[in-house]
Amino acid sequence: MSIKTTLLQKIDSRQARVGMVGMGYVGLPLAVAFARAGFVVTGVDVDESKVEALNRGQSYVGDVPDTELTPLVQSGCLHATVDYADLAAVDAIVICVPTPLRKTKDPDISYIIEAAESIARQGATGKLIILESTTYPGTTEEIILPRLAGQGDQVGRDFFLAFSPERIDPGRRDYTIANTPKVIGGVTPDCLAVALALYGAVVEEPVPVSSTATAEMVKLLENTFRAVNVGLVNEVALMCDKLGLDVWEVVKAATTKPYGFMPFYPGPGLGGHCIPVDPHYLSWKLRTLNYRARFIELAAEVNSYMPEYVVGKVVDALNGERKAVNGCHVLILGVAYKPNVGDVRESPALDIIHLLQARGAVVSYHDPFVPSITTELFALESIQLTATALQQADCVVIVTNHDCYDWGSIADQARLIVDTRNAVKNFL
Ligand SMILES: NC(=O)c1ccc[n+]([C@@H]2O[C@H](COP(=O)([O-])OP(=O)(O)OC[C@H]3O[C@@H](n4cnc5c(N)ncnc54)[C@H](O)[C@@H]3O)[C@@H](O)[C@H]2O)c1
Repeated sequence: MSIKTTLLQKIDSRQARVGMVGMGYVGLPLAVAFARAGFVVTGVDVDESKVEALNRGQSYVGDVPDTELTPLVQSGCLHATVDYADLAAVDAIVICVPTPLRKTKDPDISYIIEAAESIARQGATGKLIILESTTYPGTTEEIILPRLAGQGDQVGRDFFLAFSPERIDPGRRDYTIANTPKVIGGVTPDCLAVALALYGAVVEEPVPVSSTATAEMVKLLENTFRAVNVGLVNEVALMCDKLGLDVWEVVKAATTKPYGFMPFYPGPGLGGHCIPVDPHYLSWKLRTLNYRARFIELAAEVNSYMPEYVVGKVVDALNGERKAVNGCHVLILGVAYKPNVGDVRESPALDIIHLLQARGAVVSYHDPFVPSITTELFALESIQLTATALQQADCVVIVTNHDCYDWGSIADQARLIVDTRNAVKNFL
């Protein structure tokens, strides 16, 4: 029997063992989905504290409640380890390691390389390997394939390799792993067939595409689309400010057009691990081909200016009260990059805090999802959101629109507010 047939049968009967490399925001929910679908899942992570927490049945990802995780761990369907040797016996491995940027904004694919080399040391023969980390077109075939094929195995016959981008939207309830269509590209048609079979067990609508590079590009189109459109509406906000117009009214009215328009909303800047980061993977790749990705560069320029713009609004608001920002107490409400999550990666709130501190402001923050922040430039702990804290602040800057905030009482108690939330008119 061919390796492909054996794998397909094991997947179909749920005898296939699944390995997950990188048990973070992407890997953990996916590991849980495979375990719930009846596979035995082994999660590998280099972070010992995550491995220990998982093996106690404790989740550190908001979208995975302990009540869902614990029974899977207790029944032996899901276990975590720091030891790649535990992947020697699995049939399929999904790689979900980070793909950050270096300080120069160039891609840092060192995590992908390390994961691929660690998997190769256990032997890829007989396995399906899938990369889920967002990366530039060509990574799967240029970086992973040569490392796995090193021992003379032939891809599409002795082992199978695919790329499938993750579309998870942390905190979202209506779209889950199961009902979000999943794009999948294989190195060969048989690689695609085996990957489709595996994902078919956990997603309702797998979407096959012709190659791994196409699948990699699909993800970058999706995220670049958002970065560029947010950049556009942020620039429209800056223009409306100069024209004395209300950008929210403009966007709301434009949204009544039943076709050809999709609303995006201005804000304090782009945040999160994906939208501010991923387009740079594409522009870097294009630079190596002597092409400048102009929309990506322009959107990044506008979006990364927004924290500076917010700080300018704080300075103006304080000026209206005859106060200098230097020495003023500024309270930031919400530092996560989006509502109802505890993720501060690339959050514009970090830039806003630093820029205010650099101007001499005494900055504190409250965020029920983020107990503390440590960056290279500052370290702060979330303070209690009391009436006294609100009244003592010379200015309250609302950055993240967490559902739990009581905006009515905040508005009553704060002396001065700069509000960057969607659909609030007094920003800009
Ligand atoms: N978070 C999202 O909303 C989201 C959405 C879509 C795509 N993505 C992409 O998915 C990938 C993972 O993102 P994430 O948010 O899950 O990151 P994360 O930082 O939450 O998780 C990555 C995990 O990988 C572990 N790790 C690092 N190196 C490792 C190695 N060599 N071996 C084993 N484990 C290792 C880390 O300890 C961490 O737990 C990235 O490419 C990201 O762009 C993320």
